[in-house]
Amino acid sequence: MTQHNQIYNTHDVIFEKGDEGTCAYIVNSGQVEIFVEQAGVITPLALLGPGEFLGEMAIIDGQRRSASARATQPTQLTSITREQVSERIQQADSVVRHLIRILVKRLRVHNTHELQIAEKPYESEQVIEKMQFESELLQALEKNELHMNYQPIVDLTNLRTAGYEALVRWKSPTRGPVRPDIFMGLAEETSLILPIGSWIIEQCVRDLSELHKKFPNNPNLYISINISGKQFEHENFCNILEAAVQKYGVSRSTVYLEITERVLMTGGAALLRLEQLNQLGYRILLDDFGTGYSSLSYLVDLPLHILKIDQSFVRKALTDPKSLSLCKCIANIARDLQLKTVAEGLETQEYVELMQQMGCNFGQGYHFSKPLPFSEIIPT
Ligand code: C2E
Ligand code: CMP
Ligand code: CA
Ligand code: CA
Repeated sequence: MTQHNQIYNTHDVIFEKGDEGTCAYIVNSGQVEIFVEQAGVITPLALLGPGEFLGEMAIIDGQRRSASARATQPTQLTSITREQVSERIQQADSVVRHLIRILVKRLRVHNTHELQIAEKPYESEQVIEKMQFESELLQALEKNELHMNYQPIVDLTNLRTAGYEALVRWKSPTRGPVRPDIFMGLAEETSLILPIGSWIIEQCVRDLSELHKKFPNNPNLYISINISGKQFEHENFCNILEAAVQKYGVSRSTVYLEITERVLMTGGAALLRLEQLNQLGYRILLDDFGTGYSSLSYLVDLPLHILKIDQSFVRKALTDPKSLSLCKCIANIARDLQLKTVAEGLETQEYVELMQQMGCNFGQGYHFSKPLPFSEIIPT
């Protein structure tokens, strides 16, 4: 077993350029010189003191040592295993991984003054595509390429429109229509989700106030807004929502927030926020119920109003008895806990009837309507 702490005397070589990189080191005390030797000429590259790292480059790029290292005075190093470094790198965001590899490559070229044949690191194409996609998404907001569509949520007892789920759309001039689960997923990986999320809130609340002006006989019509995890966690979330509600003068009880179980898993702050939103009068809907790591205790402890039964269960309920049982079970639990249910993905009359029999309160799906631009929605 290699020793964790290693002592070197003045002039001791720690490793040489071209050696295999089996571990990295941290300097505890003393000093290490990093140098390269070419045609008998030694070129010093750096002097590293306590707290500094060495030997990480060979681990990052899997190549041999880029330089030699020797102690310039009595020195103690702590060795770091290959796994300690490489596991962290594997866990990092693919863009970060890419950037680290680029930097290491540049440093190797810089040290030896040898131009390396451009060799694309593994993953580079996907990473570059992702960064381009992200830049386009960033501009999409400024260039007005995003818009909201609204899909009716129907009361299954009288088939009247209860409200609308807001679903974002991106018509990219280069890519055509992009699926929201894809671009919102990407936005969520970066802080882009915050401006996009705020824009969505503003649009939805503005359209909600228009809706009430256009249809004054249906003052309870609501708009249900999908809120991503990072957006919900952000400290300004409530302020942004409140500012929009006050600006457009809508009633908070007609603003529904669709969150997923993932949001609840983030812990205490999210739970406090839910309480606060509930106190303010917003309605909270748990989306994709049953697909995440559901804990039934959420249903008891949290101020939720509605459960949305995921379309993956609804879709199979007619053909698969287990999915049918699951839907029934969710509808029953919800009823006992005085929560309302929405069944999503209702594509035919058969599904509508099945969900009515189960005692589901609301339904949503292509059978009633596809998501439509605001100008085309007419409550039934
Ligand atoms: P979701 O929240 O589960 O939205 C329901 C999805 O089911 C929507 O897909 C909707 O168009 C689709 N859908 C509705 N009825 C039917 C039906 O009868 N059959 C089928 N096959 N599909 C139906 P969409 O609009 O493509 O959105 C996909 C996901 O993207 C959403 O899933 C949500 O996770 C995310 N998303 C969409 N809009 C937003 C948004 O404004 N904010 C956030 N944070 N996420 C959004
Ligand atoms: P590695 O290539 O594994 O082995 C040599 C180490 O020297 C290298 O990792 C870095 O830790 C370090 N190193 C290489 N070049 C430089 C430099 N220009 N400045 C500082 N440290 C360097
Ligand atoms: Ca939803
Ligand atoms: Ca869903």
